[in-house]
Amino acid sequence: MKSRTHRCGELNKTHVGQTVVLQGWVQGRRDHGMVMFIDLRDRTGITQVVFNAERNREVHKSAHTLRSECVVSVTGQVMARPEDSKNPHLSTGDIEVFVDAVEILNEAKTPPFVIEDDASVTEGIRLKYRYLDLRRPKMQRLLSLRHNIVQAVHAFLNREGFLEVETPILTKSTPEGARDYLVPSRVNPGQFFALPQSPQLFKQVLMVSGVDRYYQIARCFRDEDLRNDRQPEFTQIDLEMSFVDREQVMSVMERMIVTVFREAGGVQLPTPFPRITYADAIGRYGSDKPDLRFEMPLYDVTAFGATSEFKVFREAAGKGKIVKALIVKGGQSIARSRIDALGETARSFGAKGLAWLKIAADGQLDSVIAKFLDAKAFARALPEASPGDLVLFGADTPAVVHDVLGRLRLLLGEELNLIDKLAWKPVWVTDFPLLDYSQEEKRYIFMHNPFAAPLDEDLPLLDSEPLRARAKAYDMVLNGNEIGGGSIRNHRSDVQLRILDLLGISKEQAQAKFGFLLEALDYGAPPHGGIAFGLDRLIMLLGGAESIRDVIAFPKTQRAQCPLTDAPSAVAADQLKELRIKLDLIE
Ligand code: AMO
Ligand code: AMP
Repeated sequence: MKSRTHRCGELNKTHVGQTVVLQGWVQGRRDHGMVMFIDLRDRTGITQVVFNAERNREVHKSAHTLRSECVVSVTGQVMARPEDSKNPHLSTGDIEVFVDAVEILNEAKTPPFVIEDDASVTEGIRLKYRYLDLRRPKMQRLLSLRHNIVQAVHAFLNREGFLEVETPILTKSTPEGARDYLVPSRVNPGQFFALPQSPQLFKQVLMVSGVDRYYQIARCFRDEDLRNDRQPEFTQIDLEMSFVDREQVMSVMERMIVTVFREAGGVQLPTPFPRITYADAIGRYGSDKPDLRFEMPLYDVTAFGATSEFKVFREAAGKGKIVKALIVKGGQSIARSRIDALGETARSFGAKGLAWLKIAADGQLDSVIAKFLDAKAFARALPEASPGDLVLFGADTPAVVHDVLGRLRLLLGEELNLIDKLAWKPVWVTDFPLLDYSQEEKRYIFMHNPFAAPLDEDLPLLDSEPLRARAKAYDMVLNGNEIGGGSIRNHRSDVQLRILDLLGISKEQAQAKFGFLLEALDYGAPPHGGIAFGLDRLIMLLGGAESIRDVIAFPKTQRAQCPLTDAPSAVAADQLKELRIKLDLIE
C-alpha cells in the first residue's frame, strides 16, 4: 500500500497539477456514463475523485466495483474544477482528483444506514453500529470539539498553576446523592468497592496534602434515572483550590469557561457573568437553573389573592401558601382549548389547577373567575399586565407554585418562540440553602453535598433554624442548564461534624463512610473550596447537540445499556464462584 500524501479535506487550488495519494471511505458514487464521481471521505472531509474513461479505461471500469463505505487508496492528479461545478460547501470544492490508479484496501457490507448527517435512523441502531455512526461528519465534529475543549481546559489550568492528579476508580461511596455502582472484591470476599460519584473526598484530601490547586478530567459514576443531560458514566472537569474564598473560585472558573468557549468554540460569552441568589432564582424564574435567554418572570400576587373573592386564591393566601402569576404577553389570542391543555399540563406537574384570565382592550377581565376578581385591584396588583395579555396563576405551597410556573414558563418560552436560540446567557446561582427537608424520610438532607460550608453569618442558624442556613455554594448555569456546581468546604472538623449531625449521620456512620476525610481535617486542613463542571453538558451546549449521548463516543442508552458491547451482561458461573457470590435475584 502506498502512503497517503494528503488527507481528504486538505486539497485546494494551490495543489492543482500535483499527483497525490488519498485514502479513505467511499461516501457515494455518481455515474455519468463515461465519467464516474466518487466522494472519498476521512475525518478531515471529502474530496471528489473522478474516474474518467477517456483518461484511463481500466480505472473507470474498476470504479463500478466500489461500493459505499469500502476503503480505497487512489492515486491521481489534482485538477481545478470548472467554474460551474465548484462546490462552495466543501473545503475541497475548488478541485477534484482525476484517478490514475485505485486499490481496494477493504470491502464493506451495506451499512444499516447511510453515513450522512441527516440519515433517519433510530438511536438504538446508531449505538449498536456506533463505529458507523461516528463516521458521520457531525459526530466527527463533536469528537473534535470535545478534544479541543479538553485541550483548552488543560492549557488554561496549567497556566493557572493547577496540578493534575488522578484519583481512584475503585474506591468507597462518595455522597453526591445518587446510587453507587458496586464492584465486588475477589480478594476480600463479601466486600465491595464503590465507583466514585465524584472525586470529592479525594480532592479535599489532596488539599490537606498541600497540593494547593488540583484538577482532573474525571470520570464519575452515578446509578440514577437517566435523561438527555444525564449519563450513568460521565466526565467532570473537577477542581479544588486552597486558601480561597468563594469570590476567588468563581473568578478563576469564570475566566476558564470564557477562555474555553472562546478558544475551542469561537464563542464570546458576555462578562462578568450576572449573579442571582438561589432564593431570587426560584422566586423570579421558578428554577435554580434559570434560562435567562428570555425574561417572563413570575409575579407574587398573594396580597391581591388574599383580598379577592376567589376561594382558591383567598384560601391559599391565608395558609402560608402563595399566589403567583405568569404573564403571557399578547396571549389574548391563545385559544381556550390550548389554555385548558396548559391546565392539564400544570396538573401533571403537580398543580391543583391553573386559573387564568385575559385582559380585554378596555381593561375588563375575561375569565371564568372574573366575577370573583376586581379588575382595578388586579391592575394595581399587577401593573406589568396590560390589555391583550393572558395571565396564568398558581396558588399552592411555594414549592409547588414555583415548580409548576417555572416549568410552564420554559414550555411557553419554547412554544411562543421567546427564546433567543443564538444567545449565550451564563449566570451564577449563589447562596443555596445548606439543607433541605425530606418529607418522605422526615429528616434533613443536604442540598449540594455534605461538605459545603455554611455562610459565616448563618452559622448560628444551625442551632435555631437549620433550614434557613445558606451554604457557600455556587452553580454555574448556562441557557437553563446546570453546567457546574461547587462550594467552599468545611475545613474544620467541628463544623463538619455538626452538619453531619444535622443530616442524621452519626459519628459512627460518618467514621465508617468517610472517616479518613474527617481525620485528615484534624491534621492541618487549609481553607479550601472547588467546583466540578459537567464536561459532557458543556460540549453538548457548545456543539449544539440535543443530548449528551451525542458528545460521548460510547454512551449508554436511557436504560443504562451499551448496545455496541451488549453491556451489562450475565457473567460466567466460575467468575461468580471466584467472587464467592451466589445469585438469588429478589423479585
Ligand atoms: P455535582 O453533583 O453538582 O457536584 O456535579 C457537577 C456537575 O456534573 C454534571 N453532572 C452530570 N453530567 C452528566 N450526567 C450526570 N449523571 C451528571 N451528574 C452531574 C453537572 C453538574 O453541574 N463533587 C461535586 C462538585 C464540587 O462540589 O466541587 C459534584 O460532583 O453539570
Ligand atoms: P374551581 O374553583 O376548582 O372550579 O377552579 C376554578 C379555576 O381555578 C380553574 O381554572 C382551576 O384550574 C383553577 N384552580 C383551582 N385550583 C387552583 C390552584 N391551586 N392554583 C391555581 N389555579 C387553580
